[in-house]
Amino acid sequence: MTLDELRSACEGCQKCALGATRHKLVFGTGNQSAVLMFVGEAPGESEDLSGIPFVGRAGKLLDKYLEYVDIPREDVYIANILKCRPPQNRDPQENEQDLCIGYLREQVRIIRPKMIVCLGRIAAMRLIKPDYRITKEHGIWVQKGAFEMTAVYHPSLLLRGNTTYKEQMLTDMKVVAEKYRKYKEI
Ligand code: URA
Repeated sequence: MTLDELRSACEGCQKCALGATRHKLVFGTGNQSAVLMFVGEAPGESEDLSGIPFVGRAGKLLDKYLEYVDIPREDVYIANILKCRPPQNRDPQENEQDLCIGYLREQVRIIRPKMIVCLGRIAAMRLIKPDYRITKEHGIWVQKGAFEMTAVYHPSLLLRGNTTYKEQMLTDMKVVAEKYRKYKEI
C-alpha cells in the first residue's frame, strides 16, 4: 500500500465519534521517505480546518525549533496519534487512540523512518511506554525495532513560557539534529 492509498482509506473513517465532527482529516505531511518522523497527539483547530498537522501556534513554534537546528520541515514527516480533532482539544481518549493507531502504524511501515520523535506526553505514552514521564524522560533515546525513538516536550506546553523547559527542548532538539545528520550521511 502507498501513503496515498492509505490516506484515501482514512478519508471516510467513522470508526470513532470524532469522524462526525471533523472538518478535515489530518493524515500527515512531509517527505514520504523521511529519515525522521515527528508524532504529535491530535489536530487542533487550525489543523482541523486546514487538514495539515502542526500549522497553528504550536506548529509555528515547532517550525522555529526545526529552523534553529537546521532541519528543513519538508525533509521530515509529521503526523499525530489521532487523525481527527477532539472537541475543545481535550486529550485523546484511550478508545479513540486504539481505533486510530493502526493508521499511524501503517504510515510508519510505509515511510520506514530511522528516528521517531514523540511530541509530548500523550504520544510518548502511546508509542514508548504507558507510564512515560515527560519531565523526567524527555530526550532519552530507545531502540524500538528498526528505529530509534525519543520524546520531547510538546510545543504547546512550551508556549506557556517555562524557560527551563524551553532550554531542555533546545538541548533535545540539538541531539535530534545530530542523529538526523548522521543518518543522512549513511
Ligand atoms: N498539536 C498536536 O499534537 N498536533 C497537531 O497537529 C497540532 C497541535
